[in-house]
Amino acid sequence: MVGLNAEVNTLNKALLRLTFVSTLFVIVLAGPLLLAQDGNKTKIGFSIEAMNGERWQTDLNSFEVTAKQLGAEVISADAKGDDDLQFKQVKAMIKEGIKVLVLLPRDTTTASRMVDAAKSANVKVISYDRLILNSDVDLYVSFDRAEIGKMQAEYLVSHALKGNYVLIAGSPNDEGAKALHDAQMTVLQPYIDRGDIKVTADEYTKDWSPTEAYLFALKAIGSSQDNIAAVLASNDGLAAGAIEALRSHNLTGKVLVTGQDADLMAIICIAQGTQAMTVYKPITTEAARAAEEAVRMAANERPRANGTMNNGKTEVPTIMLEPVLVTKDNIKTTVVKDGFQKLSSINQALPADQQIK
Ligand code: BGC
Repeated sequence: MVGLNAEVNTLNKALLRLTFVSTLFVIVLAGPLLLAQDGNKTKIGFSIEAMNGERWQTDLNSFEVTAKQLGAEVISADAKGDDDLQFKQVKAMIKEGIKVLVLLPRDTTTASRMVDAAKSANVKVISYDRLILNSDVDLYVSFDRAEIGKMQAEYLVSHALKGNYVLIAGSPNDEGAKALHDAQMTVLQPYIDRGDIKVTADEYTKDWSPTEAYLFALKAIGSSQDNIAAVLASNDGLAAGAIEALRSHNLTGKVLVTGQDADLMAIICIAQGTQAMTVYKPITTEAARAAEEAVRMAANERPRANGTMNNGKTEVPTIMLEPVLVTKDNIKTTVVKDGFQKLSSINQALPADQQIK
């Protein structure tokens, strides 16, 4: 009997232990789930200066997909091109308890006030696509702008060896627009010095506006009496404005036009021959990387940068991604292959003889 009692006691204790361990197991396993249901997910803010143009919705969608997969909640806001509104929206996100702020500013100089506000509330900041100057950002995620500017200008000098060039640069408030222009000029300068190329018009464009680009190109075409070899447009939106201006002078297809972003409209123009090239930046990768790093940084892990970039104040850890040159010849093996643009959407806009097979 004593032996049996002892055995029962041992069994009871074992059962008790088992119940305790399995309860613990359930609590541990269900932990994140319970937290999620409680609305205690890690919050990440994504502040976008303006949803203008084709790309930024794609950036936001990809960012949200990855952040959600990693268990975070995204609070996003569109500042509609208004610096003060963006500042207000950022302050509201900080109040809502974001751990990391991913920031695409309109003005890369004055944006430091938003970084300061975040940092003083212990919120880490990722400078998204555009480098926020003179600020303590924790990470910068972008594409190599010097390389993009070089690709655009090199394409032109190897296809229009001589002649008048019109340069349409991006926003004067975006340091990236200047980085592109500087890189373009490095390539063009020897040709200008030799007298092969003449820059007949060269201007930054308020807020990267296609309409401004159209008006500027119209003027530039008029003052050169239709004698233009190339339009060095810094992105596809500016290229679209320039192409419209060229169209009104019956010059489409006769003047080389560059771009950047691989927007659907630009890919169609390349297939038609009214735009010569664009630069494809796999922005779904850019957004996903930013989301991954934001989640890591929210958990106090160090971002996995592959270089640094000086923003005037610090050497900012940087993730620099590689751009890809797109011309008529490789539309299918680049943007289509990656699923960035659909072949059916491109071909839908083209007559049968211009469609991409
Ligand atoms: C981005 C470009 C974009 C432009 C206008 C730049 O900061 O790098 O991809 O075309 O802004 O939105």
